[in-house]
Amino acid sequence: MEYKIALIRGDGIGPEVVREAVKVLDAVAAKFGHQFLYTDVLMGGCAIDAVGKSYPDGTAQTCKGCDAVLLGAVGGPKWGHSTDPDKRPETALLSIRKELGLYANLRPATLRPALADACPLRRETAEKGIDLMMVRELTGGVYFGKRDRYQTEDRGVEASDLMAYSELVIERIGRRAFELARLRRKKVSSVDKANVLETSRLWREIMHRLAAEYHDVEYEDVLVDNCAMQLVRDPGQFDVVVTENMFGDILSDEASMITGSIGLLPSASMGDTNPALYEPIHGSAPDIAGQDKANPIAAILSAAMMLRYSFRLAAEAEAIEQAVDAVLAEGWHTGDMAGDTDKLVGTVRMGQLICAKL
Ligand code: IPM
Ligand code: MG
Repeated sequence: MEYKIALIRGDGIGPEVVREAVKVLDAVAAKFGHQFLYTDVLMGGCAIDAVGKSYPDGTAQTCKGCDAVLLGAVGGPKWGHSTDPDKRPETALLSIRKELGLYANLRPATLRPALADACPLRRETAEKGIDLMMVRELTGGVYFGKRDRYQTEDRGVEASDLMAYSELVIERIGRRAFELARLRRKKVSSVDKANVLETSRLWREIMHRLAAEYHDVEYEDVLVDNCAMQLVRDPGQFDVVVTENMFGDILSDEASMITGSIGLLPSASMGDTNPALYEPIHGSAPDIAGQDKANPIAAILSAAMMLRYSFRLAAEAEAIEQAVDAVLAEGWHTGDMAGDTDKLVGTVRMGQLICAKL
């Protein structure tokens, strides 16, 4: 089969890790008899430099012409925090999510067997294993609400960001979570702040409605502050964790850290119709960009997620995951991970090792 993949290489270490992911995809293509056709899409800080805005016209259109999108990373200190949205790399990320309708962000946090020692939690906690799927609502809430800044009479300037959630938006992300749980260990933990926020109270009402419908799935409500604590106390208790945009942004970084390295974790962002977008959850890491130091595994595992979810190529996805595990089991690692110095490798070598296992 032939599949079209849009590549957003982006900024910092983005291009380096995407390059390795593409090598792995090509190895899979050769082994399983597929053809992957790539289209480069300019977006992020590099697009500001090249054409004056981070999200050039036609970006979404080009992506829609492909079957899936693979993104490296965008952003970096070079572009600062301009007040002009066109000059902010983050604008591109938020815009593409919105324009492609990618409302469901799946961020798995898995402690890979070879890396149990890298888990910063107590040994007995790590031994229980960590295998959770964070399902973050990605196109609603306070990141997309009305922003304002105005003068008050007695308190100087005031700023406000509106957090709004509708039934439709909550229900569709909730369904994703319950459907996913059915394919896993059949447990959904819904995270909110219903003791304070009205959006959370509506969120909870709708999740309860869904829990009644998906009665084969175990369900619990968890307050966001408690969830942050439980993630470091006993992460093994979680299967699918579903939450709104900002809570998910924060908790998914926390969840990634307990698995040993943020350089290992992939993610998928999907909607109902348009191509889904796959990206490592680490950022552009400008401090190590261009030095062959970045860990390409998160990008490579993102490519595996793409094969599984967008192309329904489960065997191919598993082949990549097994190749990664085999390389890690031999002790090979990049600088972000712990290990013996004689097994420390760079970005390119790590990509080669994984390809060789395929
Ligand atoms: C992420 C990032 C983005 C987000 C930023 C860069 C806009 O932190 O993907 O988690 O908050 O969604
Ligand atoms: Mg984030």
